[in-house]
Amino acid sequence: MLAVAILAAGKGTRIKSDLPKVLQKLAGKSLIERVIKNCNGLSPEKNIVIVGHQANLVEEHLVHINGLEFIRQVPQNGTGHAVQQLIPYLQDFDGDLLVLNGDVPLLKSSTIEELVRQHRSFKAGVTLLSSRVSNPKGYGRVFADQNNNVREIIEDRDCNKEELTNNLINAGIYCFNWRQLKEILPSLSSENEQGEIYITDTIEKISVAMHLEITNSDEITGVNDRSDLSYCEDLIQKELRKYWMLNGVTFTDAQSCTLSEECRFEQDVIVEPQTHFRGNCVVGKHCRLGPGTLIQNSELGDNVVVLQSVLTSARVENNSKIGPFSHIRPDTTIGTDCKIGNFVEIKKSVLGESTKVNHLSYIGDSFLGSKVNIGAGTITANYDGTQKHRTIIGDNSKTGANSVLVAPIHIGSSVTVGAGSTLTKDVPSFSLALGRAKQFIKTNWKNSRKSKD
Ligand code: UD1
Ligand code: CA
Repeated sequence: MLAVAILAAGKGTRIKSDLPKVLQKLAGKSLIERVIKNCNGLSPEKNIVIVGHQANLVEEHLVHINGLEFIRQVPQNGTGHAVQQLIPYLQDFDGDLLVLNGDVPLLKSSTIEELVRQHRSFKAGVTLLSSRVSNPKGYGRVFADQNNNVREIIEDRDCNKEELTNNLINAGIYCFNWRQLKEILPSLSSENEQGEIYITDTIEKISVAMHLEITNSDEITGVNDRSDLSYCEDLIQKELRKYWMLNGVTFTDAQSCTLSEECRFEQDVIVEPQTHFRGNCVVGKHCRLGPGTLIQNSELGDNVVVLQSVLTSARVENNSKIGPFSHIRPDTTIGTDCKIGNFVEIKKSVLGESTKVNHLSYIGDSFLGSKVNIGAGTITANYDGTQKHRTIIGDNSKTGANSVLVAPIHIGSSVTVGAGSTLTKDVPSFSLALGRAKQFIKTNWKNSRKSKD
């Protein structure tokens, strides 16, 4: 039997944020979501998150994850105090308790599984993860013998000069025999530099305390401040980019680009500098994206080109070209062979194949057929002050420069809209629609007036 308890009650003073530390994000996912995900493979009997500082916020943030139990720690008097809160809840539990710091987000599932395996095969009272690092500052130091038996853990602040030279650090990840731990927990004191109750003080009181030393210390990086956060983000991004490079994606300036774990790329995609992908993105073959592009929760077909543009929750089909300086907003589908150009914003609209919106336009709540040509400065006036209305434009229609289409409006197929028109009525197919003041010319105007100068 296994229970998992994630410590997420602390404020995270050093992160200097209005948010609790465990809600800080790495590649779009919070630290706490990452820690929970890392334990998924274990299928524990109980999955507990200990919350305290801004507990409501943390609980709300995790509502979408099934099977979590929340236990409150009030006040937050240290990691040992956090684990003490489990005593009434796990009265009858008889098994192992895996305790994880909520601020150690990069741990691999396989490492956690190995920890539990070793703990059980040695029938240990506690087994903890450790690693040797070049800069152990801030971490608790693990004092162990050659047989991996741990004598004690001393916090960085409580170490003397000699103890500080020990570079074997405590990762904050422990597998305990719950029965033994339950007996020891009430006896912990807070006689240390911080005046807090430390979970690490249980180690010297447990009969068989062991450690599992891992070689890749990056995995156990703890996030205490924004520089740790940046370090972890960098590790995640490097790994993601490397993965996609090995799967046929070219990055012309890799360091300047970021990805999310939910991105999928086909082969021969070229990602130019300063291009960022967030959320769920799917990118087809031979796309060329960037420089200077942000793509969020969007799906691109093959041979799509996007330059200096922003796409959010959009779908762009094969061979279409977007940008420079286009803004494609949610619920938009751009068909195949389309061209969306400079300073064009498209929202909640569907564009058929080979349709062009080349310059300075707003297309919202619209359905455009195929081979439609939207002239420079065409605007769909979709909002009447209270409601949004739809614009429909049929195949092969063409709007002149500076047209305003006041929705709701249905423009048929093969329609020509004269430049500068403001249309408020539907236009039947194959017509010319003009809606502007007639041009007026008065000849010899200048000569007929008395010159002032
Ligand atoms: C802790 C360990 C240290 C280890 C390091 C690894 C202790 C005393 N020290 O130090 O040995 O090297 O992690 O990253 O455990 N928390 C609570 N309630 C509290 C205090 C903290 O739930 O009252 C949670 C925090 O939200 C955080 C985790 O426990 O997720 C660790 O707390 P933190 O204060 O960051 O501990 P460290 O000083 O990093
Ligand atoms: Ca920490």
